[in-house]
Amino acid sequence: MTAPIIRSLAELRAMTRGWQMAGEKIGVVPTMGALHDGHLSLVAAAKQRADRVIVTIFVNPKQFNNPDDLKNYPRTEEEDARKLERFGVDAIWAPEGDIMYPPGFSTNVSVAGLTDVLCGAYRPGHFDGVTTVVPRLFQAVKPHLAVFGEKDYQQLVLIRRMVEDLCMGVAVVGAETVREPDGLALSSRNVHLDEDQRRQATALSRTLYAAVENAVYGAGPALDAARAVLRESDGVDLDYLEITTPDLDPLPEDPAPGTEARILIAARVGTTRLIDNLPLTIGRID
Ligand code: PAF
Repeated sequence: MTAPIIRSLAELRAMTRGWQMAGEKIGVVPTMGALHDGHLSLVAAAKQRADRVIVTIFVNPKQFNNPDDLKNYPRTEEEDARKLERFGVDAIWAPEGDIMYPPGFSTNVSVAGLTDVLCGAYRPGHFDGVTTVVPRLFQAVKPHLAVFGEKDYQQLVLIRRMVEDLCMGVAVVGAETVREPDGLALSSRNVHLDEDQRRQATALSRTLYAAVENAVYGAGPALDAARAVLRESDGVDLDYLEITTPDLDPLPEDPAPGTEARILIAARVGTTRLIDNLPLTIGRID
């Protein structure tokens, strides 16, 4: 079934009002298009939890710190709509820029602290762009739940914080990262990798898995094992490799055995910046 592509707010509201009056649960999957299997797994997660699912496609200018990235971002709406056909999505909300940001729009939503660390330190303004557009999308769709990928883990944590702080009343669902058989996390940026870089890019997930396997000996040994993988990998220019709490706070110096944590990596392979992360448990609980 081809989902209708809706561009006007009035049309979207007319549709969702009917669902709300019928007591149906609405799920939204916010995207910037260029859909791959990772996005489609978010749609499947939304379908499991909601009666109605809307996928939003909006290439948000506010989250691009590099104007060339915005210009070159793939716009593949027809193909995206085709990919969504087998999921029974109820609508695709693809607004024009002036609907999302009408003339005079002056508000910036910023989640203090979390915005400046990890990827935020390398992409100034990026997360403010995300936390400014997501409330606009929620306001348009009025969903009960929204699904975001764990692949963009910092984004997920920031959005959870914002939704709680601003009492938005939307359940934020995190969906596990989808990987290629060799471990590479699916990303719309993978298309920029040539054959050599595609092979080199597997270093990111291999690094993380080495840490996960060694986390039983503590956070230090986990990081040592991860760094050993990186040292043996060519073509990978590291931005950061860090173990944090699941909320992205610094890990306590001597975490109790069984402490849940997250390891996150960002690196450039050629000119393509890639990110990945995994959950891990520090120490053994006997
Ligand atoms: O993850 C993305 O694709 C974007 O950051 C999002 C959440 C759709 C906001 O523009």
